[in-house]
Amino acid sequence: MATIKLFDKSFEPYLPEALILEKIKELGQLLNQDYAGKKPLFIAILNGSFMFAADLFKEVTIEAEICFIKLASYKGTKSTGHVITAIGLDTDITDRDVVILEDIIDTGKTLNEFLPQLRNQHPKSLKVAVLLHKPDATVFPVDIDYCCFSIPNKFVLGYGLDYDGFGRNIREIYQLQE
Ligand code: XMP
Ligand code: MG
Repeated sequence: MATIKLFDKSFEPYLPEALILEKIKELGQLLNQDYAGKKPLFIAILNGSFMFAADLFKEVTIEAEICFIKLASYKGTKSTGHVITAIGLDTDITDRDVVILEDIIDTGKTLNEFLPQLRNQHPKSLKVAVLLHKPDATVFPVDIDYCCFSIPNKFVLGYGLDYDGFGRNIREIYQLQE
């Protein structure tokens, strides 16, 4: 794996595909144990998590559903500030064991705002599984139940993650060269 250039930035290899897939397999096995007999509903957050969700769901051998949503953020009124809404959540999550699949938790702002909205719909349980977490960047608290990799506070791309829309199709994860 060599350094790649995208627009004005250079990225160096960070997590090889085999390691990513190994961690995802372990996570799948853990979920198979933890959710046996529970028919969980996985909710993957697009766009970044599409590859993680697909590879993880292949490792899930118990009965389970998956759906995909997009989060849109709006500038609300002065009192509501910035508002996040889910697009495409057409499955009733009431009384369901829900697992959110997210590509990366950075500041934590997105899930910190979005999880309470889901809790309002009274799922039986609500857990979070992420491929990547940048603990040094996280300022908005999020309870992360399952995490494949804790990474340093550097921009990453590949394996679903993008830089200005590009790089999602790279099979490995690259890190911004500084
Ligand atoms: P917060 O800060 O709300 O951010 O936890 C989560 C979202 O920010 C994007 N993000 C990244 N995307 N490389 C990316 O390609 C990164 O290093 C990165 N850090 C944050 C991502 O969309 C994630 O869902
Ligand atoms: Mg994302």
